[in-house]
Amino acid sequence: MVQATPFLLVLSLALVAPSLPARKCVLTGKWVNDLGSNMTIEAVNGKGNFNGYYYTAVTATTNKIRESPLLGSQHHTNQKSQPTFGFTVHWNFSDSVTVFTGQCFVDEEGKEILKTMWLLRSYVDNIKNDWKATRVGINVFTRLHPQK
Ligand code: BTN
Repeated sequence: MVQATPFLLVLSLALVAPSLPARKCVLTGKWVNDLGSNMTIEAVNGKGNFNGYYYTAVTATTNKIRESPLLGSQHHTNQKSQPTFGFTVHWNFSDSVTVFTGQCFVDEEGKEILKTMWLLRSYVDNIKNDWKATRVGINVFTRLHPQK
């Protein structure tokens, strides 16, 4: 019985450990997505709220792209290591707004990854054009300067 205890401990750790993320996924920092857009998320406060800025690589307009502010919140009520979050980008070079929602994951190699979906609402000058004013998509973000 005495010899079996350490064995059972190691066995249970070996079974449980692979399903647990090795580290916590933290939103704060610089990220790049699959389109080449860059975003910086500043400190997440005690209520889970954060600010940041977004430099999109693409636009649905013909306007010159400029860095735009973002405002978001992360779920914080339970201290999950892979939190859900949402943020809004208020584009300051167009009349559009994008909302993103997603989850911050740590992948099998320990790399942080943000899996998001977004809705981009563009301005239309007539209610008859409302049907074509919203685009939807997916973006995957990885850290611009990953920690070793
Ligand atoms: C606009 O074109 O009016 C504003 C820029 C929108 C950029 C979109 S938001 C969703 C998608 N992901 C990005 O990184 N850029 C595009």
